[in-house]
Amino acid sequence: MTILVTGGAGFIGSNFVLDWLRQSDEPVVNLDALTYAGNLENLAALQGDARHVFVKGDIGDRALVDRLLAEHRPRAVVHFAAESHVDRSIHGPGAFMKTNVEGTFTLLEASRAYWGALADDARAAFRFHHVSTDEVYGSLKPEDPPFAETHPYEPNSPYSASKAASDHLVRAWHHTYGLPVVTTNCSNNYGPYHFPEKLIPLMIVNALAGKPLPVYGDGQQIRDWLYVTDHCSGIRAVLAGGRVGETYNIGGWNEKANIDIVKTVCALLDELRPSADGPYARLITYVKDRPGHDRRYAIDARKIERELGWRPAETFETGIRKTVQWYLDHPEWVARVQSGAYREWLDKQYG
Ligand code: NAD
Ligand code: TYD
Repeated sequence: MTILVTGGAGFIGSNFVLDWLRQSDEPVVNLDALTYAGNLENLAALQGDARHVFVKGDIGDRALVDRLLAEHRPRAVVHFAAESHVDRSIHGPGAFMKTNVEGTFTLLEASRAYWGALADDARAAFRFHHVSTDEVYGSLKPEDPPFAETHPYEPNSPYSASKAASDHLVRAWHHTYGLPVVTTNCSNNYGPYHFPEKLIPLMIVNALAGKPLPVYGDGQQIRDWLYVTDHCSGIRAVLAGGRVGETYNIGGWNEKANIDIVKTVCALLDELRPSADGPYARLITYVKDRPGHDRRYAIDARKIERELGWRPAETFETGIRKTVQWYLDHPEWVARVQSGAYREWLDKQYG
């Protein structure tokens, strides 16, 4: 048996592939276009490992996807590939429509053709696992209950709108064609290999470089945070036992305001790598808010716990300590992802 993973050189995808092959010998075919966010260095530990087949290519390339499905005969497609950064989606939404909407459509069509021609047993066992986000549900008020799977879709950014569109396509391919899909909607992840354009790794690498720590608006926006390997174990649980056609919310029961996240990162760095210039919190700088900035996300993860017994293994305290330590231990990884293209992005976004 084999699984086909898309986007397996990105932050969550690479953690998933590494984690998968730590727990099982089932091979992974990894299709990734290696955009700015894809990094084969994340998978260096798998070099020479026959269980991992990396293919550089686009999920929107139908001929390529058809060929990979025919050649490797996967029992499941686990679909991570996406443009994933809200701020980039505000500057340039086109790539988000192309990959997240059209790319998912192509992957669904290729999967449908492949699945439809399988023998009965294999057809019944096949899964298309779509990895999505809590951002499709929109923004919560302080007193609102957390997002359950039944919450209406109210995406507010080009990124979340494109992910919502892809969720709808996945749903329709199940209802109309019977494709055996499962969808997971997860909260904000953090952990190793997180590209330093996102809040937590950006704060770590900027602090270590003595650069400002840009906090959007008043810093009181709330996200639910989940350590990335807990997301991976949630996906494995849903892939193994989730009911076909269902969606499962995955979250860490960790609602935190951005400013508190930044202060926690600063305090950990003060402890683990103190700066001669004084506490890192001196670098906190409030900057112009993100347009259309969602105020609060929170996940009700009771369904996945009730049906599949999944709960996160890490608390925020254990997960953030591991994360800060990982960045301290991997300065060469950070230096290499901070390529020319990444520096251009920083100039565009932060001036
Ligand atoms: P990422 O940006 O770090 O990685 C995305 C990967 O997809 C990269 O390796 C990139 O090269 C690849 N890719 C992009 N376009 C492609 C294309 N057209 N064809 C093939 N590969 C392509 O993203 P991430 O943070 O790892 O997120 C992975 C998935 O999880 C996304 O679908 C995202 O919406 C979802 N998600 C992310 C979070 C989070 O906090 N990061 C939370 C919930 C859900
Ligand atoms: P981000 O990591 O981009 O994830 P998302 O927008 O998908 O939730 O941002 C997390 C939160 O941190 C979000 O409320 C925006 C905020 N943020 C800042 O305050 N400063 C920054 O430089 C970045 C990148 C994000």
